[in-house]
Amino acid sequence: MPSTSREVHLIRRPEGMPVPEDFGVVDTALPDITAGQLRVQNLLLSIDPAMRPRLSAGQPLNEPMSGSAIGRVVQSLNPDFAEGDYVMHGASFREFVNTEGRGVRKLNVDPALPPSVYMHVLGGSGFVAYGGLLAIGQMKDGEQVFVSTAAGSVGSVAVQVAKIHDCYVIGSTGSDEKCRWLTEDLGIDVAINYKKDPIRTALKAAAPRGIDVYFDNVGGAHLNAALPRMNVLGRIPVCGMISAYNNFGAISDPVTTLSNIIYGRITIRGFVATDFPELKPRFDEEMTAWVKSGRVKYQETFYEGIENAGAAIIGMLNGVNTGKMMVRLAQ
Ligand SMILES: NC(=O)c1ccc[n+]([C@@H]2O[C@H](COP(=O)([O-])OP(=O)(O)OC[C@H]3O[C@@H](n4cnc5c(N)ncnc54)[C@H](OP(=O)(O)O)[C@@H]3O)[C@@H](O)[C@H]2O)c1
Repeated sequence: MPSTSREVHLIRRPEGMPVPEDFGVVDTALPDITAGQLRVQNLLLSIDPAMRPRLSAGQPLNEPMSGSAIGRVVQSLNPDFAEGDYVMHGASFREFVNTEGRGVRKLNVDPALPPSVYMHVLGGSGFVAYGGLLAIGQMKDGEQVFVSTAAGSVGSVAVQVAKIHDCYVIGSTGSDEKCRWLTEDLGIDVAINYKKDPIRTALKAAAPRGIDVYFDNVGGAHLNAALPRMNVLGRIPVCGMISAYNNFGAISDPVTTLSNIIYGRITIRGFVATDFPELKPRFDEEMTAWVKSGRVKYQETFYEGIENAGAAIIGMLNGVNTGKMMVRLAQ
């Protein structure tokens, strides 16, 4: 067993887009576990957009960065966990964690699937996509649906759930390659490269029958473009606003089309994954079956090694990832 473990610290608060010098890797002592404890070797770190606002406020400096991880129990003096168990927890970003087990959840990994899928399509990202459309967006079969960051972890599940419900689906993303994945492999109707075509005119052309549900992951210019296209009684479930995360606290991309909600009777509602617990059993059953049958597809983007965790955050914010961004620490 190793006697030290490396961990990622935030050593400086970023201004705007983070840079590698904002992060440091620190070697720390790893004491033997004591009665009631277990030791987890982290295999995968989850790179999430929500980490960015915490870098400006919330994440203490010179302490291990918070974030979720999938790991394997390598030693246990805790009766609830056995060596070899796969677990998920929020005590990363480090290679090894000694813990009493609080906040550590055992993963019941389907033998036909890699554990990594529980970090995205069968985990929180998949569930917010599913519940955000069905419970918050009240999406009906055959409706007109627009999803932003459509080739990302949440967005790629959302567009596929909408297609399964026979909707006309528009997705926006930041490269032609991701657009091709969305149309050719995931079967959506129109993919917009918002870095090439202004989102407002591209969305107008892509949505001749308007939009009933806009699943918003971006805010800013995307929300501004979607509001005038919304059909009467349209719904905007707001999952995230990544375009604002690097400018925490500042208004960089004002939304000027909000008055469309009046005559359009539009509902805009933010949500989190704990808002629709009643859907969880159905989600687990349906999504597992869809993933295993190939009806729902996914991609994963890995950075290798804990020393690249900061680079992975920067890469995700720049759109390097297709599907879920993760850091792989061990197999
Ligand atoms: N409410 C909740 O409980 C909850 C849970 C999970 C995630 N979320 C939110 O859901 C959204 C997607 O999260 P995710 O984990 O699936 O991340 P992701 O989409 O896998 O990765 C983030 C993507 O955002 C895009 N992006 C970055 N800056 C952008 C900008 N200024 N404008 C437009 N797109 C930009 C990039 O792709 P492109 O190449 O397309 O630019 C990047 O790959 C985020 O807003 C996140 O905060 C919310």
